[in-house]
Amino acid sequence: MTHSSSTQVIPLVTNVPQHIAIIMDGNGRWATRRYLPRVAGHAKGVEAVRGIVEACSARGVKFLTLFAFSSENWRRPPDEVSVLMRLFMTALDREVAKMHANGIRLKVVGDLSRFEVRMQDMIAAAEARTAANTGLTLTICANYGGRWDILQAMKKLVAARPGCTEFSEEDLAQHLSMAYAPEPDLFIRTGGEERISNFLLWQLAYTELYFTDTWWPDFDGVALDAAIASYNQRERRFGRTSEQLVEPRKVS
Ligand code: IPE
Ligand code: IPE
Ligand code: MG
Repeated sequence: MTHSSSTQVIPLVTNVPQHIAIIMDGNGRWATRRYLPRVAGHAKGVEAVRGIVEACSARGVKFLTLFAFSSENWRRPPDEVSVLMRLFMTALDREVAKMHANGIRLKVVGDLSRFEVRMQDMIAAAEARTAANTGLTLTICANYGGRWDILQAMKKLVAARPGCTEFSEEDLAQHLSMAYAPEPDLFIRTGGEERISNFLLWQLAYTELYFTDTWWPDFDGVALDAAIASYNQRERRFGRTSEQLVEPRKVS
């Protein structure tokens, strides 16, 4: 199923965002503040993921997308990169059965070819196991970059239509790695920085942006509710004037 594009069709707006996308930032600083090694912050960050997945499921969010490792994070010290990989594999190993029991569908997007084969296999197995689940779709972006995504979509599109030079936005969008999801309604970045850091560049066209100083390991259900409350204050106009929003602004 392909979802409509916010630049072509005005999306349905609901009180509970259908799709929340999060840049989970601030693990390192959370740890440094406690005189702990940075990796302790990443370990604590995994616990926060568990809490937010549960909180989103409980609130009826349909899609939760988490930026776990960017295509630029390879620039970090090799020790930190390998700890992050190990944490990811351990979490996959430990959590998939529980996610499956809770009806969660797991997706991992990004250039996975750079990961070790064992990890690629674990990802494929976890995705296959949870593929038919109808609860929350949890997407983990790993070795993901927004520019990489647009470029890989373009390559697929050109390969699918040799010689063709006329393409629409939809033609490209259906090859993006998250074509199975609607565009995010709410973007959250923890950790105080106010930037996109090469996350979902195409899909964030009309997403409401929310930035908080809270470090990711401290981000809990209460913090999530504050973000959703902020979202509910927004008037999503999608290019129109305020006066044109004649219908009730939000439906529940
Ligand atoms: C986010 O926390 C986790 C990843 C990028 C993997 P950081 O590790 O970026 O934490 P800070 O920004 O250094 O505090
Ligand atoms: C963005 O955080 C990537 C992830 C959370 C995975 P970074 O900490 O890598 O972003 P920058 O470097 O501060 O922009
Ligand atoms: Mg950071």
